[in-house]
Amino acid sequence: MGSLDGRVALITGAGRGIGRAEALYLAGEGAKVVVNDPGVAPDGSGGDVSVAASVAEEIRERGGEAVASTHSVAEWYAAAALIQTAVDNFGDLHIVVNNAAVSRPSSLVSASEEAFDAVVAVKLKGTFNVSHWSADYWRGRYETGDRQDRSLVNTTSTAGLDSPLPLNTSYAAANAGVAAMTIVHALELVRYGVRVNAISPGARTRLSLDLPAGVPSLTQHTPAPGEYDPWDPIHQAVVVAYLGRASTVVTGQVLTVRGSTVIPTNTWSLGAPVTKEGAGWDVEELANALGEVPFADPFDRLTFLRRVYGVSTRDEIQDLLNSILDTDLAETANP
Ligand SMILES: NC(=O)c1ccc[n+]([C@@H]2O[C@H](COP(=O)([O-])OP(=O)(O)OC[C@H]3O[C@@H](n4cnc5c(N)ncnc54)[C@H](O)[C@@H]3O)[C@@H](O)[C@H]2O)c1
Repeated sequence: MGSLDGRVALITGAGRGIGRAEALYLAGEGAKVVVNDPGVAPDGSGGDVSVAASVAEEIRERGGEAVASTHSVAEWYAAAALIQTAVDNFGDLHIVVNNAAVSRPSSLVSASEEAFDAVVAVKLKGTFNVSHWSADYWRGRYETGDRQDRSLVNTTSTAGLDSPLPLNTSYAAANAGVAAMTIVHALELVRYGVRVNAISPGARTRLSLDLPAGVPSLTQHTPAPGEYDPWDPIHQAVVVAYLGRASTVVTGQVLTVRGSTVIPTNTWSLGAPVTKEGAGWDVEELANALGEVPFADPFDRLTFLRRVYGVSTRDEIQDLLNSILDTDLAETANP
């Protein structure tokens, strides 16, 4: 007996990295899986149909049921076709995991419109596209009297939440948008029996190994065989299986997953207000009131860089950031 027996799952970007681990794990728990992945390069270019096909084949070799799809989540009607692929092959759809992403890092100064659009098209719009068509299908089922549990699991990133990494405007913005959509969609879809949550992963994949401007990756150490590996994508897969189970009740949550540590994540909480009773401020009054507020320093949010480089003072961090930005500018000038 698997925890997902009888469930049908669609996982986007399931040909590699975290999505691949999720596809294999969910299939091992009894789910029938649509393995979606056009097999593109990290920047979204190219394509390789064998990437999704090989994961689907691996699932079948292990005795599971899977079908491959190479649709791009970035395209509105391709996203609709994805849902139809699940229904045509397996008769229903219970779990949708929005996992696909591409990365085109650059500083704001060296950014291009095309690179920004490419990242947002897959992560933010792709999540929206697949979520929309899933919700459309699930609403139809609900209205015919089908009351099964449905689960939508989004994938966001620390880069868009608690630890924005410089050089990642598009990726951070898209992932923050995914976290916001998670809450909105959880609230909207309760009425159709759909739960909506997100994970914020950390795992050893091509994406996390190849950070911008020479920033070393936290995930690059490969443990010895048998040693606990906190960066194995399997840890993400277990949390997704938990969120996808019919008996799970949580909705509207973002879970940061670091190895076997799972952290409920709430960002953009409100601090102590400044207020003036019964009247509006003038600028000087407001400046005086806000002058008393202990604002958080945005440099304190660079926990990732602090940890990787072991720097602590504000000057050290500013120097480090400047050298990363200089490297990016030099790389952009001499690609
Ligand atoms: N690896 C980490 O530590 C980490 C950290 C934070 C967030 N994430 C998120 O986890 C998810 C998986 O990332 P990963 O590290 O496994 O990366 P990855 O590059 O190994 O896998 C991403 C997959 O998405 C696919 N993809 C790209 N464009 C697509 C499209 N238009 N339609 C469908 N599939 C498409 C790619 O072909 C690729 O196989 C992403 O959403 C990423 O933002 C990863």
